[in-house]
Amino acid sequence: KAAEIVRELEEQCATPLGRLRQVADAMAVEMHAGLASDGGSKLKMLISYVDNLPTGNETGLFYALDLGGTNFRVLRVQLGGKDKRVIKQEAEEVSIPPHLMVGTSDDLFDFIAAELAKFVALEGDNFHLPVDRQRELGFTFSFPVKQSSIASGSLIKWTKGFKIDGTVGEDVVAELTKAMERQNLDMRVTALVNDTIGTLAGGRYYDNDVVAAVILGTGTNAAYVERAQAIPKWHGLLPKSGDMVINMEWGNFRSSHLPVTEYDQALDLESLNPGEQIFEKLISGMYLGDILRRILLKLAEEAALFGDTVPPKLKEQFILRTPVMSAMHHDTTPDLRVVGNKLKEIFDINNTSLKVRKMVVKLCDIITKRGARLAAAGIVGILKKQGRDTLRYGDKQRTVIAMDGGLFEHYTIFSKTLVRTIEELLGEEVASTVFIEHANDGSGIGAALLAASHSQYLGLEE
Ligand code: BG6
Ligand code: GLC
Repeated sequence: KAAEIVRELEEQCATPLGRLRQVADAMAVEMHAGLASDGGSKLKMLISYVDNLPTGNETGLFYALDLGGTNFRVLRVQLGGKDKRVIKQEAEEVSIPPHLMVGTSDDLFDFIAAELAKFVALEGDNFHLPVDRQRELGFTFSFPVKQSSIASGSLIKWTKGFKIDGTVGEDVVAELTKAMERQNLDMRVTALVNDTIGTLAGGRYYDNDVVAAVILGTGTNAAYVERAQAIPKWHGLLPKSGDMVINMEWGNFRSSHLPVTEYDQALDLESLNPGEQIFEKLISGMYLGDILRRILLKLAEEAALFGDTVPPKLKEQFILRTPVMSAMHHDTTPDLRVVGNKLKEIFDINNTSLKVRKMVVKLCDIITKRGARLAAAGIVGILKKQGRDTLRYGDKQRTVIAMDGGLFEHYTIFSKTLVRTIEELLGEEVASTVFIEHANDGSGIGAALLAASHSQYLGLEE
């Protein structure tokens, strides 16, 4: 019985190249639709108001605040311009108390403003701000926002583990600014960016060929450089660069070609945002572990995989985190000791046989490879839209994609599968022009750089 359930799952999760090509095509089609009009697609294709990416000439002291992953981060950086680049940088990571993720807007913003104020207070003599100037901040806010300018925008909806009443529709910069005032912190947000945009900007600072960024962490999303003329819904002036960076919010992508199982449907129904973020729920770190838990529960209930009684902890939503799943998946001990220990630790399941442990590893493999291969198809969809999925004029123009997020960084089988699948989809020759680069905390630097290029003091001598 157990073997049958696993075989069925394997079939339903299958991602042969043909199917992935359909997903990539559907992604490119939806990108067009989302650029045509607001509401034209499940893909929001949000305009970032970033029409110039960092050049390396940015100078001065800037701060960044990054909210949206598992942790929130603050960063300060002294930029030295050409040749000198980042002179000094300091960062701090703070985990967000879970109750604040589902509490009130004021409580959340007060907490982050307070942490920021503490961090600013520790600024040492190594950092330099000309007298009478306000400190400036790049605010990375990793949720869908409808921007009205580079430094303002209203929250469209919460995603991932956040759900706070009263913030949707509000200007998140205004919320943060009010909270900073309550902390007596004199600081101005000069750039509001999604983490994908920050990562793209940070990536471009170090490599001129970066044209897209993908986050694979708690959630998943992508941003890329579009020609402004190819954005029918953009009614503003044509930027000098001719470009506009788009935050796709690809987590909300859906298509009949996606391999969705009963477990995914149940996960979606019981989530904080049913019917939303379907692509994200197949791929990202917040969900992979819980998909695995759901399958284990089914195996316990219908095939007595763990004995006559169903271990009660198997019923607890999100008890199995993706890092634990990753540890089991990467277990190289001959008796799969790590798998055994984790099952015991998390679910109080004792004395599992090697056969059962092997089955758990196989389940990890099915779920993770499906996610990684779908993410690869999404990336190929972007390359198609950009016309970078074929060699142009036979040249060897580099295409670099900046990647970040805990899932990409730590789940090796996931990232290796992703890279390999891109190669499979593009073919060797084209794939040799595409580079996937890990931009470690690129979004922090990226946000600070964008804060610099939109500074109120731009053009003034220091
Ligand atoms: C970080 C980026 O490295 O990855 C953040 O700096 C991003 O901007 C984060 O939000 C996403 O990863 P995770 O795993 O924290 O969700
Ligand atoms: C979610 C958010 C998106 C963010 C992504 C990665 O999908 O909606 O804005 O970029 O997670 O953090």
